[in-house]
Amino acid sequence: MALLIVRTLKTSQDPGIPNLLPKDTNNSANCILPQLGSNVKCFISGDVRVNEQPALASLHTIFMREHNRIATGLGALNNGWSDQIIFDEARKIVGAILQHITYKEYLPEILGSAIMNSNGLNPLATGYFDGYQSSMNPSIKNEFATAAFRFGHSMVHDSLKYRGTSLLFKDVFSNPTTLYDANGGIDSVTKGLLDWQSQKVDERLSQQITRHLFERQPGFGADLAAINIQRGRDHGIPSYLLIKAICNITGNVHSPSIWSSLNDIYNIPDDIDLFPAGVSENPVAGGKVGPTFACIIAKQFEALKKGDRYYYENSGNHAFTPEQLDEIRTTTLSKVICRNTGLTSIPSKAFRVNGYVFHLAALEAVNGSWLTCSGASDLDYNKWKCGWSNWESWTQCVSFIRFRLRTCTRSKPCAANVCTGKAYQVEICESFTRVNIPRIQANILSFESILSQQQSINGTVILSIARNVLQNLVRQ
Ligand code: HEM
Repeated sequence: MALLIVRTLKTSQDPGIPNLLPKDTNNSANCILPQLGSNVKCFISGDVRVNEQPALASLHTIFMREHNRIATGLGALNNGWSDQIIFDEARKIVGAILQHITYKEYLPEILGSAIMNSNGLNPLATGYFDGYQSSMNPSIKNEFATAAFRFGHSMVHDSLKYRGTSLLFKDVFSNPTTLYDANGGIDSVTKGLLDWQSQKVDERLSQQITRHLFERQPGFGADLAAINIQRGRDHGIPSYLLIKAICNITGNVHSPSIWSSLNDIYNIPDDIDLFPAGVSENPVAGGKVGPTFACIIAKQFEALKKGDRYYYENSGNHAFTPEQLDEIRTTTLSKVICRNTGLTSIPSKAFRVNGYVFHLAALEAVNGSWLTCSGASDLDYNKWKCGWSNWESWTQCVSFIRFRLRTCTRSKPCAANVCTGKAYQVEICESFTRVNIPRIQANILSFESILSQQQSINGTVILSIARNVLQNLVRQ
């Protein structure tokens, strides 16, 4: 059977709500759905956890839409590309955008600038990253997955903000009904995330996840804090104190009352589990997590960057061109949200709320500027156009002539023989008399001689336009 390749990801459409994720009509995710037979179904995406709660499904949907938008843009530009090439290139770009947002916008808020710097985690402003290490193992560490990166469980509120009200998490776990509301849906859930600072990372977790997680009958919810501790033991990760020592962290990193509670609960300090002790450390400067979790998270993201041949800033055969890379670097999470929802104005820094990072306690006043979505720039797809780019603007008119430039893109997946180098056009731009002709000819000749010294430049055909104009005049 032939495999049908399409450039875009599958979507489902409901009246008034375009471009939702495909529906899980068999309810294989075991969702808690309102009425049998209704249109409301859970969703299918690359990860079954998409249905865990509507804010996660909203972000999955936004990035699915981003893929489809980019694939459509690339397809319009390069008629010769097959659906497979378009799909792959769009996927590569969305992967790069996700990495850029993670390293440029998200991690600095979690780890603070000192840890970002000391672990080499900041993306470059321009050019290629040359820190790839083939010996570095980028796989996910046990301590990261079972404890440190679960710090987010402490940031979760009791509810989602939704169209001026709040939806308790216990009512929306595995239940995407709100996303089918044509007057709210994904836009309102996303706006709720942008408008509300998160909880602090500390020893407290919402009862919605410690008593009511995936609750189907009152009183029978699961406890995510207990699951996290159990999962750490289940995976055999070392105790908190050992990891703290491996990270070279000395001294007190807890408030005295938290440390005394931990010692009351665990008779032997060496038994203290990584999750509860890590999540309750005092935060590092400028970050949200304590030093032990910061150490694990920084080492993980360092390995994910330096140990990945396909890290988006790398050079090499598969790499973006420098111009494409600069284009990806213009992307922010706010821009992605703007271009894939109906929201009209949102904070320009998506991880900050009204100028404060994640939670008001941080009180880090920043420039709380807003992004008007109609003015939010999109990627310049011309950077992905195979062959000649559009002409740049004409230079100023100097001594009767002006010129303009275009460049050839033939990075993968463009065909190798599509064009080479750069090309110029020269044009006469001022009215002149016969007296001026020698001067114009001299200008064109000197221009040609500059071009001939630059082997990458293909100016011959174009220069002939200006030369012909002159020759015709001379003959008259
Ligand atoms: C309402 C919000 C959330 C809910 C209901 C939730 C629920 C869960 C559940 C049920 C698990 C599986 C636990 C297990 O069986 O071991 C899990 C795992 C995990 N969660 Fe969350 N979570 C939420 C938010 C977050 C956030 C905000 C973060 C990080 C910033 C996060 C990071 C993780 C990680 C890293 C894992 C382990 C994944 C793996 O090993 O594959 N979660 N979460």
